[in-house]
Amino acid sequence: MKILVLTGSPHHKGTTAYLADKFCEGAVEAGHEVHRVNTAKIDVKPCLGCDYCRRNDGECVYSDDMQKIIPYLLEADGIAFVSPLYYFGITAQIKRVIDRFYAVNSKLRSKAKKTFLISAGSDEEAWAMESIKLHFRTMCRYLNWQPSGELLVLGAATREDVEGSIYSQEAKVLGMEAFYK
Ligand SMILES: Cc1cc2nc3c(=O)[nH]c(=O)nc-3n(C[C@H](O)[C@H](O)[C@H](O)COP(=O)(O)O)c2cc1C
Repeated sequence: MKILVLTGSPHHKGTTAYLADKFCEGAVEAGHEVHRVNTAKIDVKPCLGCDYCRRNDGECVYSDDMQKIIPYLLEADGIAFVSPLYYFGITAQIKRVIDRFYAVNSKLRSKAKKTFLISAGSDEEAWAMESIKLHFRTMCRYLNWQPSGELLVLGAATREDVEGSIYSQEAKVLGMEAFYK
């Protein structure tokens, strides 16, 4: 199976990059084909909402790195969204990419995909993850995608808080068992 992993942190070796490493490790061990994109490192402009794509068969006014991601997006059997918690949601870096789904919206809605959410934040209380979880599930519901696993780590301010922890193992298992359920 093909899995697209979208990470969203400016910390290239941070908490969520580590969890993404583990998820990918598990997925590769299970024989899946993984394509990983760090949305913080690429040039993807925020959607203008101009609707040009709607009038021009999905073509965007921008010619940027989104063009490289779209083929993987359309082909993926699974997509993992991996973002640190920023003000109780995903980061602007990954949201920018999600908003550009708009150009291929109907194509995305017509192919079933399994989806995964991995996030980490420094807060300790469970309510801190409620809005990111709800956003993810709502987006998947709209896109006809199947939320198939969530790993939401509280009390994780830095990579050291997750390295070698139970969450490291859980991220790996999520990748390994991505298509079991
Ligand atoms: C701009 C910003 C906003 C943040 N907002 C939250 C938040 O709302 N809740 C939380 O628990 N942690 C928050 N954090 C902490 C990060 O989620 C946490 O440090 C995380 O481990 C960073 O992951 P990374 O190394 O993958 O970027 C925030 C950090 C930054 C820089």
